[in-house]
Amino acid sequence: MHPRETHVAVGIVATAPEAQGRGVARAMLQPVIDAAIARGLPVRLVSSLMNLDSFSLYSRLGFVAHTIYQDLTFTVPATGLAGAAPLEARRVRRVTEVAEAVRLAAFERELQGIERERDYVFFLRNQIGAWRVWVLEDASGALEGFIVASHHPSCVMLGPGVARDEAGAAALLWSALDAMRGLSPVFLVPNAAAQLVQTCYGWGARNIELHAAQTLGTMVAARGISFPTFLPETG
Ligand SMILES: CC(C)(COP(=O)(O)OP(=O)(O)OC[C@H]1O[C@@H](n2cnc3c(N)ncnc32)[C@H](O)[C@@H]1OP(=O)(O)O)[C@@H](O)C(=O)NCCC(=O)NCCS
Repeated sequence: MHPRETHVAVGIVATAPEAQGRGVARAMLQPVIDAAIARGLPVRLVSSLMNLDSFSLYSRLGFVAHTIYQDLTFTVPATGLAGAAPLEARRVRRVTEVAEAVRLAAFERELQGIERERDYVFFLRNQIGAWRVWVLEDASGALEGFIVASHHPSCVMLGPGVARDEAGAAALLWSALDAMRGLSPVFLVPNAAAQLVQTCYGWGARNIELHAAQTLGTMVAARGISFPTFLPETG
């Protein structure tokens, strides 16, 4: 479990095959739920839609799936992404200053209603050297979106991240992916962002899984495009 300012996140849940179906996962999750309720916070997680054991576990406990994500992947060509860069990609840049975490956390809170500044401090501090943080800014330098990328060979993946709209999300994805030439990153795109999904197909992306964001407790209305990740939350 990963307690945060605005919510409690649940990471990967697994029980030994010989112990399954005996209430072990439920017993592990119940204290997490109780602790969140005691703090008046919702519990959030991202679960596979192709794994009914997992979906049912959370559904029985009262979680409600609210956003469907398409898991996409492809090998980024050594020569870079196909086609022209989205117009807004010229306003995407990599940031490395730890002080940027305040801005990223505030932006996520504004659009998605959740806050986790320590996570962004962790990515920006980048002690293992495998994290890259990209931001999209408007002409005045105000944040329009950001995305974190893991280049570590054990997990080549994009997310977390948030963009104000699909055009900004495409620019961030394009920049983060183009920096992963020869790699095969996994990234999750909201199913409802139909134009963005088509853009990703145009780059060569293919579906490999489906996930749903689920919440137990008060659901905050979210705006913008979010990029979830499976990486354990930090901090
Ligand atoms: C998913 C997983 C953690 C579940 O663990 P578990 O210890 O078997 O789960 P539990 O026995 O505590 O609870 C399962 C619940 O789901 C319910 N359930 C299972 N299949 C169901 C179905 N098809 N419809 C409705 N309910 C179902 C069970 O009845 C039980 O609820 P109950 O306690 O109210 O009766 C386990 O199967 C696992 O480790 N899978 C591999 C890893 C994985 O997929 N993890 C999840 C993604 S990170």
